[in-house]
Amino acid sequence: MNMDVRLTTLCDNLVGSLGFIGEWGLSILVECGEETILLDTGMTDSVVRNAVQNGINLSRITRIVISHGHKDHTGGLRHLFQTLDTKLPVIMHPEAWAHKYAARPESTGSRMHFIGIPHTREELEYLGASFTLNREPVWITDQIVVTGEVPMKTPFESIDNNLFVKIEGEYKPDRIPDDQALVVKTSKGLVVILGCAHHGMINTIMHAQEITGEKKIYAVVGGTHLFRAGSDQIDQSIAKLEEFKVAHIGVSHCTGMPASMALMQHFKDRFFFNHVGKVMEF
Ligand SMILES: [Fe+2]
Ligand SMILES: [Fe+2]
Repeated sequence: MNMDVRLTTLCDNLVGSLGFIGEWGLSILVECGEETILLDTGMTDSVVRNAVQNGINLSRITRIVISHGHKDHTGGLRHLFQTLDTKLPVIMHPEAWAHKYAARPESTGSRMHFIGIPHTREELEYLGASFTLNREPVWITDQIVVTGEVPMKTPFESIDNNLFVKIEGEYKPDRIPDDQALVVKTSKGLVVILGCAHHGMINTIMHAQEITGEKKIYAVVGGTHLFRAGSDQIDQSIAKLEEFKVAHIGVSHCTGMPASMALMQHFKDRFFFNHVGKVMEF
């Protein structure tokens, strides 16, 4: 069977075997045709360290795609550019640069914690980043598309109300317009690769169908942001994935254990933990 796309997970909360390091964050290397795309970069230097452990030469990367401007997906940019010492295109939404915060319990000291991109644009450009800022879908090849903004459509998915942007000294709810995913068209259907799916896993999949004109969903991989979801949202998400007849569901990062367990029980062999070290070919 021909392989259309290879995914290698370089940063995740979980590690699959000895020698890898885990951290709260995400990064997936997506190889498809001539393109080797890094979707997100983890928070620290985990991508660089796990790539060495996996025998992956990161200088093969042709471009970086950022799913949204949280530091667990963008913090690794500096280490990466310092290590690679080369110029690379970076695709992300302009609102990824917003000053993003998460509300935490008062007992943790300051209630608002900065969780935005921990670098300046100038620093990253100096190190080699060349930014393309997109709101609309961006086709990288005729097989690979970055979704752009994901419309909120399902009645059971909502945006985390714990997240804020600071505008002129005031905290406003962050609607995370910068949330996007990477989609690969394969001979078996779409492979949808999620960062955090802040606009909802099902909304993201439906948007992928819309922009590609392809209804068949072959695989869904990455962060689903179900870690704060109630059982109703988890059940409805499972029903939708079943309706889409997904052949593989590989969860990472902000999926959380209860949702992962529910998905595993339902999808059995079709489920996998997309942890650091996992390599999937579709
Ligand atoms: Fe996030
Ligand atoms: Fe995240």
